[in-house]
Amino acid sequence: MRGAVFSSLCGALLLAQDVLAQQPVSVAGYSAPKWVLRRDGSSSYACKCYPGDYCWPNNGQFQKLNSTVGGNLRVNIPPGAPCYNTFKGPLGDVKTYDAAECAKVTANWYDEQWQIEQPAAGLWTYFTNDTCRPTTNPSDSCTLGYYPALVIMAKTTAHIQAGINFARDNNLRLIIRNTGHDFLGRSVGWGSLVINTHSFQDIKFTNAWRGACDYNGSAVTVGAGVQAFQVLKQANALNPPKVMVTGECGTVGVAGGLVQGGGHGPLTNFYGFLADTALEFKVITADGVLKTANAKINPDLFWALRGGGPAAFGVIVEATYKTFDDKPSSGVSFDLALSSNATLFWEAVRIFHGYSTHFVDNGLYRSTLPSALRRLVLSSHLHHRQPTTNHCRHHGRQHPAVCRHHGLDGLPMPASQPLLDALGS
Ligand SMILES: Cc1cc2nc3c(=O)[nH]c(=O)nc-3n(C[C@H](O)[C@H](O)[C@H](O)COP(=O)(O)OP(=O)(O)OC[C@H]3O[C@@H](n4cnc5c(N)ncnc54)[C@H](O)[C@@H]3O)c2cc1C
Ligand SMILES: *[C@@H]1O[C@H](CO)[C@@H](O)[C@H](O)[C@H]1NC(C)=O
Ligand SMILES: *[C@@H]1O[C@H](CO)[C@@H](O)[C@H](O)[C@H]1NC(C)=O
Ligand SMILES: *[C@@H]1O[C@H](CO)[C@@H](O)[C@H](O)[C@H]1NC(C)=O
Ligand SMILES: *[C@@H]1O[C@H](CO)[C@@H](O)[C@H](O)[C@H]1NC(C)=O
Repeated sequence: MRGAVFSSLCGALLLAQDVLAQQPVSVAGYSAPKWVLRRDGSSSYACKCYPGDYCWPNNGQFQKLNSTVGGNLRVNIPPGAPCYNTFKGPLGDVKTYDAAECAKVTANWYDEQWQIEQPAAGLWTYFTNDTCRPTTNPSDSCTLGYYPALVIMAKTTAHIQAGINFARDNNLRLIIRNTGHDFLGRSVGWGSLVINTHSFQDIKFTNAWRGACDYNGSAVTVGAGVQAFQVLKQANALNPPKVMVTGECGTVGVAGGLVQGGGHGPLTNFYGFLADTALEFKVITADGVLKTANAKINPDLFWALRGGGPAAFGVIVEATYKTFDDKPSSGVSFDLALSSNATLFWEAVRIFHGYSTHFVDNGLYRSTLPSALRRLVLSSHLHHRQPTTNHCRHHGRQHPAVCRHHGLDGLPMPASQPLLDALGS
């Protein structure tokens, strides 16, 4: 059973001998990683160190790490654990039952922002293997599932550097965790060490960016933990109001996975992907060194961070993006429900899609969501000012924890004549 788990966790499916023969990346003071041989059927793998392995660091080493990170190292306890007598963790059993905490966890389980604020929760709990969901029976079993073993609640750049160095030197699986939004579960990982970046909350606006790019306009510098709704709210309060490209969902981070995956959103038809609006990053690479990456300094790293895949090239500490003048925006949502005539339903879908180019040419952002209720929800926005709640509610049908908005709900967004015109009514 262990073998089956490890085969999917070990990443590169290389023969152990091949991996062991490879020379590690040359980093000053860095010794060769301690690979662990594992077998799954007739295949063998060279894996990172996990709890229980001979190379897993001892308590003294973890205590030293803990003091380097200012006491911010935590044993990761799954958020559902207060509903169970015992969390049977990889580092030993922990008594966890707490009726009041359990009631809180149960009430908040589908609250997205609450999940985001947990040290290492994944919003799509499927990726945690769902082995410790809230329960009414405390004697049920709560195990780690695919949650990480330990978390550094990083408060400073030095804490992140210490975490990277420790994981590299001890060959631990390292995961960077911002909001836990990742569609592919990349912010959780069994037995890993997590660096949580949620504390990096600085937001700084400028009207005239002076950086390596030729660009000389307005910009915003955001810390790694900033979420879209936070920066949009502050940008909206500026005089004149500003916007930046974000995802459609206000709770997704803007300096983590979004930009490293490109990042599309309601303003993309005007300004491109979030990655297209990036001016500069402060980033810590695997050697633990804090670097600036922009069009002139480390341009290859700058290029890689703009779409090269989350957590693939370093840990972003802060990012600077172009901002743009706000424009009036409006939104509308179509809900096509399948009654009895499927042909008619798909004909309606076909007609709507036939307008796609027309919509895009008129600055419309559109998202289409099939739902389990045999409906198709088509949400559209013109000259979008901020993410709406619409998509998120529909995402919520599949997973209610995801995409509830905070703080933007009250902003007005009436349907406008240009929108109706663009829809070719
Ligand atoms: C409901 C929902 C709606 C979405 N809508 C959109 C959308 O409209 N447009 C769009 O483009 N995408 C969208 N996404 C996808 C989203 O952009 C990605 O899942 C993204 O990876 C989330 O990034 P995060 O930093 O918020 O989340 P996390 O899950 O915390 O992190 C995601 C990935 O980025 C890495 N990472 C996080 N922080 C850092 C850092 N500081 N340095 C290096 N690596 C880091 C993590 O290790 C992980 O691999 C949506 C996702 C959800 C769940
Ligand atoms: C790290 O130190 C803090 C503060 O002393 C303590 O609360 C915490 O339990 C320690 N973490 C670990 C994993 O020992
Ligand atoms: C994951 O869940 C499956 C199904 O419940 C279970 O058989 C398996 O042991 C779990 N693995 C871990 C690592 O929790
Ligand atoms: C940058 O913009 C500012 C304000 O618009 C202007 O005063 C300045 O001359 C510009 N500088 C360059 C190098 O274009
Ligand atoms: C279903 O809709 C199609 C397309 O409008 C129409 O041709 C067909 O007659 C309808 N079928 C029924 C059973 O109403």
